Amino acid sequence: MIYWVFMPAWPALPGMDGHTRGLRDHSERANVAAAVAELEASRAPMFTRLTEAANTGGISAIEADADLLSFALAAGSSAFGDNCATCHGAGGQGAIGYPNLNDDVWLWGGSFDEIRHTLHVGIRWESNPDTRFSQMPSYGRDELLSREEISAVTDYVMTLSDMIEPTEAGQTTGAEIFDFQCSACHGANGMGDRTQGAPNLTDQEWLYGGTRDQIYNTIWRGPYGMMPAWEGRLDEEVITALAAYVYLLGGGESETITEASAADVINAREAGR
Ligand code: HEC
Ligand code: HEC
Repeated sequence: MIYWVFMPAWPALPGMDGHTRGLRDHSERANVAAAVAELEASRAPMFTRLTEAANTGGISAIEADADLLSFALAAGSSAFGDNCATCHGAGGQGAIGYPNLNDDVWLWGGSFDEIRHTLHVGIRWESNPDTRFSQMPSYGRDELLSREEISAVTDYVMTLSDMIEPTEAGQTTGAEIFDFQCSACHGANGMGDRTQGAPNLTDQEWLYGGTRDQIYNTIWRGPYGMMPAWEGRLDEEVITALAAYVYLLGGGESETITEASAADVINAREAGR
């Protein structure tokens, strides 16, 4: 059984706002409207069941129910294509500045509940009062550190994940700066802090690129990645389906992902293409 979910595209591109574009006459348009209404009606009870399961038993309640699981994946995959792929890529693989959602690296948390919360409130989305928020200083632009100091702390950061051999400047000036300026967010040993969305700097996974120049520039400018809040923009049920889809897409945390659910994700992804 395949469920289709009709959602407005985000961001709305000029000239792309009409899925009825190209339909020849009124009756054809009316047929489409009727078909959409019928699908809306047939998927409504499944969406209700999904949200109830998520609210009472979390992701394990969804995984335990094969129908619910395939519904969540189909609905989630379809809504992902319409709302998320523009930034995160069609398969959620990400790009510079846009996190890969397939891996087990999480900025703000990879449990089903954390993902769902991130979707609700967005990230640095100031019109949502509860949005996830933190701000790394712009060390170069705001002249908090000199070029030499940024260079030294770049060396130090790169040694944290064994990307370069330790340097003199990195181990002295760089280490000292890290201790004073960076460890409050990234942790004393650079492992990051999810309560602040501060990435782990020891894992060779780079949101903003891992060359020396890219890391230097990141420290220079202080990144400020933003994601829209989806509550109010998408129905609660759709957000729940998306959270389940994203959770199952990659290394969702604290629950076991069964082989069966992994296969479902792959199928849903193919169907969503
Ligand atoms: C306009 C671009 C944009 C769109 C559209 C978008 N995202 Fe994001 N998303 C981002 C950015 C940028 C971040 C990283 C923010 C940061 O640096 O903390 C992010 C972060 C996330 C995270 C947190 C990842 C983590 O490691 O904690 C999740 C989950 C997520 N997005 C899912 C989605 C889903 C699902 C959708 C579709 C409903 C979506 N995103 C749509 C830009 C976008
Ligand atoms: C107030 C908290 C805070 C402080 C202080 C801070 N950072 Fe960050 N840092 C962050 C956050 C949050 C991000 C991710 C921003 C985003 O997702 O857009 C980040 C991202 C980074 C990245 C990019 C990692 C990647 O995966 O691409 C590097 C490198 C980095 N910080 C290094 C430093 C260094 C070096 C210092 C000290 C000189 C420092 N940070 C101080 C919060 C902080």
